[in-house]
Amino acid sequence: MKFEISNLKFEKFWGYLGPMKKYVRPLLYGLLAVLVLLQFYRPARNESNDQSQHLSTVLPLPDSVNQLMQAACYDCHSNLTRYPWYAEVQPVRLWLDLHVNEGNQHLNFSTFAKRRAAVRYHKLEEIVEMVDEKEMPLGSYTWTHADARLSDAQRKSIIKWAQTCMDTMKAQYPADSLVLRRKG
Ligand code: HEC
Repeated sequence: MKFEISNLKFEKFWGYLGPMKKYVRPLLYGLLAVLVLLQFYRPARNESNDQSQHLSTVLPLPDSVNQLMQAACYDCHSNLTRYPWYAEVQPVRLWLDLHVNEGNQHLNFSTFAKRRAAVRYHKLEEIVEMVDEKEMPLGSYTWTHADARLSDAQRKSIIKWAQTCMDTMKAQYPADSLVLRRKG
């Protein structure tokens, strides 16, 4: 029954197309060709295992927290992304790369040690905020990555860890060097 109704709708729609009908088939073939050609576009992977500037080289990072962030954050916020099989399918990969690139522009744990103290401190503040407000990890990510769904207790331990790092930095640096100013 349902099928008949939608079939009717389709016929009506098809009727509206009138003389445009002759473009439908070439358009579909065109789309298909673009989709097929797109599969040949294979961008480089974000896969470097260089840990020399990792956050853990300048701040204490317990294994338990590292593991949580490995599951929930590093795919978009480090130089070592674990790619799912469907990353081989375009345009899915383009969409994934968009998140990885944008995520790393904002926060990259692999190169964290390179940043100025004030930037590092600010990023820790942002981590507390983003994890507390459940903005991170991204919903589209936890939808497909069950192990990245953080429980309240897990969120708390990431927040507590980031706050401990901020305290560590406060003890290491003069207060005004942790204030983020525009590079001038
Ligand atoms: C699927 C990719 C993805 C995952 C997984 C992810 N993020 Fe993000 N993150 C992004 C993107 C994209 C942005 C920038 C756009 C935005 O703010 O929404 C961002 C922004 C941020 C920012 C803001 C940085 C700034 O200075 O503005 C913080 C902090 C952050 N993420 C922390 C985390 C933490 C902590 C986790 C793990 C619990 C995590 N993210 C997991 C993609 C991701």
